[in-house]
Amino acid sequence: MELKKWWHNAIGYQIYPKSFQDTNGDGIGDIQGIIQHLDDLKELGVNIIWVSPINESPMMDHGYDISDYYKIDPSFGSNEDLEVLIKEADKRGIKILMDLVINHTSDQHEWFQKAIQNLDSKYANYYIIREGDENGNPPNNWRSIFGGSAWGKIEGTNKYYLHLFTVGQPDLNWENPELREKLYEMVNYWLDKGLGGFRIDAISHIKKDWTYENLPPDGPDGLVTAWKYYRNAEGIEELLHELNESTFKKYDSFTIGEIDAETPEQIEQFIGENGCFSTYFDFFHNKYCIRYEQYAKDPIEMVEEIKKELFARQELIKKSGGLLTNFLENHDKPRAPERFIPKKFINFYSQSLLGTIYFFLRGIPVIYQGQEIGMTDFPKESIDGYIDLATHNNYKELLEKGMSEEDALRLINIDCRENSRTPMQWDDSENGGFTDGEPWFAVNPNYKTLNYKNQKEDPESLLNYYKKLGALRKQEDFESTFIYGETIQLYSEIKGCLAYQRRLNDKVITMIANWTPNVMEIPMDKPINELLLNNYKTLHVDQESMVFQPFQVIVFQ
Ligand code: NOJ
Repeated sequence: MELKKWWHNAIGYQIYPKSFQDTNGDGIGDIQGIIQHLDDLKELGVNIIWVSPINESPMMDHGYDISDYYKIDPSFGSNEDLEVLIKEADKRGIKILMDLVINHTSDQHEWFQKAIQNLDSKYANYYIIREGDENGNPPNNWRSIFGGSAWGKIEGTNKYYLHLFTVGQPDLNWENPELREKLYEMVNYWLDKGLGGFRIDAISHIKKDWTYENLPPDGPDGLVTAWKYYRNAEGIEELLHELNESTFKKYDSFTIGEIDAETPEQIEQFIGENGCFSTYFDFFHNKYCIRYEQYAKDPIEMVEEIKKELFARQELIKKSGGLLTNFLENHDKPRAPERFIPKKFINFYSQSLLGTIYFFLRGIPVIYQGQEIGMTDFPKESIDGYIDLATHNNYKELLEKGMSEEDALRLINIDCRENSRTPMQWDDSENGGFTDGEPWFAVNPNYKTLNYKNQKEDPESLLNYYKKLGALRKQEDFESTFIYGETIQLYSEIKGCLAYQRRLNDKVITMIANWTPNVMEIPMDKPINELLLNNYKTLHVDQESMVFQPFQVIVFQ
């Protein structure tokens, strides 16, 4: 099939390297560990791997705080290891994406160190440094996205630097052309090594509104979350286009922006014909969780809300001609079944249903490590079980609001992003085969039964179901329909039924999912010519209707 862009047939896989596979016994996953599993990923149909940050970092935010853009962190291996990974992946038709973290650096980065040592040096203008007020308070009352003030004090002065994330992640000053040039040089350095492209971190925050005035507080801490001043702020498009023209475009790279368009114009700017990214993540489902009070009472209502938003997005994107990146899980959220399926119904059927629903939408599907075997959350008995700074800040804020420790921990356990960062469960040996050493983060004890090896051997496992998803998406007869076809919602009026057709010319593929724990009867609008996928062994059909079992999903033409 003729692809309009080389990456249009991508099936992506996200690796959180710290937790993927350790090969040297230090308890931290490494690049050699990724190389070791390339064949497993190829079997899943994967042809793009996004590796979360592996550059040198003090790891205050697990690599999202880079201290040297040109160096691989020794805990992950060496620069040579990365080159081997790129080559070995290439041999298997897989392209590697690095994580590009350029909204901020680590406070240990040489630029920041030079900036704070000499506030008159040119490096001070690489960051956003402002005078505190006459009482020595921060320049304004913005709250960091990870909690607390967004301003860090520079010792011995009344100056502050802006950090939208942790205090160890000072924001870069994108208004400075010299800084931008330095970043582009670095991006091109990596692209020259043969990377497929990048997933681009926090890129919606690079432009700030420069007024920096105090705003009415929105919490007892006197601070305010001031999105419109630092997310998709006016003028961001200019910066994004310059970035693209100076780097990605020259290499015909594949890029996934961590950005969310808010208007059709932005969609066009971001991923239209001359967009600054290839695609961006569809984050619409981030706000849903069956464990939140408002949804726990009526899970099917949550499904109905998801249906509305999902199809509205598909419609909106169609107009731009672009493709979104569709995903269920990543390293910033608890595992998807825990968010979308009542606990007692989390099983092969509901997990395979979730996988099927998103896999055949218009867009690029990305699998997060462990999702393909149905890894689960691992709630902690004490807040000390978590490492993530943002999580600890959240916990502190909950206590400050007057919540008991027990209740705060309960909330953290259902919403904590570290739930999905537990080490990969490869087999039933000690530490799930992740490491021979002491793992950096506790392995979920359910690895004894829930692991990759078990599932590889079981033809009816979730892993083998995901392989079928990959194979179907890539099947020659259907590939162009999945990539370029329209998405048309079906059975919108049946509560808990999520269904769509993908249609291109005279090719029509239908996906129907019963996202409920009940038996569901669905009228037969179109005869099934060929059943392409079914997560049950049978399907009850008569002339007028189909009877779906709990969480049954089918794909047919
Ligand atoms: C988004 C990343 O996904 C998250 O893990 C990180 O903490 C922030 N950006 C800051 O870099």
